[in-house]
Amino acid sequence: GIKVAVIGGGSSYTPELIDGFIKRAAELPAAEICLVDIPAGEEKLRIVSQLARRMVAAAGLNIRVTATLDRRQALQGAGFVVTQLRVGGLAARAQDERFPLKYGVLGQETTGPGGLAKALRTIPVMLDICRDISELCPEAWLINFTNPAGLITETVLEYTRVKCIGLCNVPIHLKMTIAKLLDADAGDIFIDFAGLNHLVWGRKVWCKGQDVTDAVLAKLQDGAALSMKNVPDLKWDKDFLNSLGMVPCPYHRYYYMTDTILAEELAAAAPDGAGTRAEIVQEVEKRLFDRYQEPELTHKPAELEKRGGAYYSDAAVSLISAIYNDKREIHTVNTVNNGTIAGLPADCVIEANCVVGRTGARPLTIGELPPEIAGLIQHVKAYERLAIEAGVSGSRHKALQALANHPLVPSAGVAKLLLDELLTINAEYLPQF
Ligand code: NAD
Ligand code: G6P
Ligand code: MN
Ligand code: MN
Repeated sequence: GIKVAVIGGGSSYTPELIDGFIKRAAELPAAEICLVDIPAGEEKLRIVSQLARRMVAAAGLNIRVTATLDRRQALQGAGFVVTQLRVGGLAARAQDERFPLKYGVLGQETTGPGGLAKALRTIPVMLDICRDISELCPEAWLINFTNPAGLITETVLEYTRVKCIGLCNVPIHLKMTIAKLLDADAGDIFIDFAGLNHLVWGRKVWCKGQDVTDAVLAKLQDGAALSMKNVPDLKWDKDFLNSLGMVPCPYHRYYYMTDTILAEELAAAAPDGAGTRAEIVQEVEKRLFDRYQEPELTHKPAELEKRGGAYYSDAAVSLISAIYNDKREIHTVNTVNNGTIAGLPADCVIEANCVVGRTGARPLTIGELPPEIAGLIQHVKAYERLAIEAGVSGSRHKALQALANHPLVPSAGVAKLLLDELLTINAEYLPQF
């Protein structure tokens, strides 16, 4: 059987992942799932690993769930490594969501200045993890879930020799939600995905070989929800959707409804507001960990659905199985462009439909993008490239250019103010600066 190392094993998403391995035990023989965390996460790691063991036992399976703070021990002999860590924890995320608001810029975990802060904190840690992988399990596949997932995957593929695929649940979430909207089986739905992580469009939706894109857009125009727990469910403008003719992802709201979202965020962040998403998640997490400690709990609890990571386990474990079993099956993942989307650098990472087997993920040709979406993708990719350079080198100049080039940052002056504050409040997590 295989050994799977899960870095950030104390995550509240781990029971989700364990559930995925339990469901696929027949096709994917996991001998050991090793959960690894840092001292700050020791308590969470203990609670989650005990629940994971109860889940496996209740399923009558023979998967060894181990827990350690020793990353090198966890990586020894691993065939797959899953990264689901959060440098600085939810406290750092809450700061990411708050500091841009002072300068009239929206605050979000992966999008805008907050996403840059998360990227800069995460890059040194991921490069360190990759040094260990190269030494201890160089043949292992790294499934990166850590956000900003596309940008972090590009960093790994550009600066290390680790075999890495980036994964986000937005594509599978769109597929499952659209299947429900159409009252169809998810297995009958195929979506032509194209874009970047958290910036992916469904250019066409097919159901049993029929083009049903217009039917999906009509449902959205009638107000059907196509969002996630962590993104405000603002309705799309009918004329905008009609003229776009493609299915946007939930995160596109940050670009097309910036003013409305900013107003909502400012209200939520006010002293009498509901708090930012990270602050809400901190409460959800407390309740989740209370449940995880119930000795009679042997399944992932329903409360997990209050998090944004729905279908994570299906996406992650079916992806691992596709590699392990050389299925050459189609998954929507983050991988090297290599000419798939014309007009983007060959060595950048995109989110696209890929054939996945033992040799990794090979994207299906997309070609030229129409101007409705080509500009935004190019713009955000330019930001991402600068952010990666800044995160690897610790160059303030690159970081300033990253911010000044982000479509949601209004001016170089605001970029400078944002950068000063970002570097100050994150100093303890930015050894490269
Ligand atoms: P979390 O705050 O619960 O963190 C997970 C664990 O990481 C914690 O137990 C923490 O102690 C640990 N950790 C922190 N720094 C570490 C380090 N240097 N080495 C090892 N472990 C470390 O976070 P979460 O809500 O479970 O999310 C985890 C990550 O997954 C985040 O980066 C989040 O953005 C990402 N995520 C991605 C998607 C996606 O679609 N790709 C979906 C959900 C969450
Ligand atoms: C979605 C996104 C993830 C993001 C998560 C946040 O699943 O795809 O990339 O991290 O939502 O969910 P949360 O419950 O932490 O706000
Ligand atoms: Mn995501
Ligand atoms: Mn390059």
